[in-house]
Amino acid sequence: MKTHGMEITIVFDNYPYNPELTSLWGFSAFLQLPKQTILFDTGSNGPVLLRNIQTLDLNVKDIDTLFLSHPHWDHVGGVDAVIEQNQNLHIFAPDSLSKHLISDLRNQVQDLTVIDYQATKLFDHIYSTGVMDEDRIGEQSMIIDTKAGLVVITGCAHPGIVNIAKKARQMLDKEIFLLMGGFHLLNENPAAIQQVIEALQNVAVEYVCPTHCSGDLAKEMFKESFKEKYIAGGVGKKMSLADDISNTF
Ligand SMILES: [Fe+2]
Ligand SMILES: [Fe+2]
Repeated sequence: MKTHGMEITIVFDNYPYNPELTSLWGFSAFLQLPKQTILFDTGSNGPVLLRNIQTLDLNVKDIDTLFLSHPHWDHVGGVDAVIEQNQNLHIFAPDSLSKHLISDLRNQVQDLTVIDYQATKLFDHIYSTGVMDEDRIGEQSMIIDTKAGLVVITGCAHPGIVNIAKKARQMLDKEIFLLMGGFHLLNENPAAIQQVIEALQNVAVEYVCPTHCSGDLAKEMFKESFKEKYIAGGVGKKMSLADDISNTF
């Protein structure tokens, strides 16, 4: 299903939201855009991912683009299950993925592009930050350029959520309307989390939806700081940006 605006649905997350769905460790989001239907990561468990997608009345066969943020199992674990249902895919894979996995995936789908450290335009209005922090885990994040500002989606944010937000701003020179996904603050103390919050506010981030590996404490602190501009994530959470971006989340 194509929409005029943009619908983002979290289809895999360790945080619960819709009680009809299963929550397990990992992250995946289903993005319905005017011209693309994109799956961002695949969670850790294929059958659960497919069941959640179906329960949400979404269709895995509608997906035309699969974006993989980084090689960790809780983001690529559902890849086989998705491909079994739908080979008609263009995969954007980070170069941090194993060469063997890249070549296996390439043989099974329509197209596969390997993303390296360079910021890359994937489609009109849709970008990859490029793989950041290549010496460590090597992760790409997605940027969608909307009239309201940038929507930035992260898998685990291993390169640092502030670095990712700064990179997105640098690339497109626009404010960030929504920053969402795993912020990887689960092992941080309150002072470090407060620093991250202040840095993101300095980068001009408007709405935040920290989920997956953000951690309970960070979620609470973001909620306190961003108030009505904090969005509670979790599996089944839907966010709609209307065509005219009169945005109601
Ligand atoms: Fe993760
Ligand atoms: Fe990770």
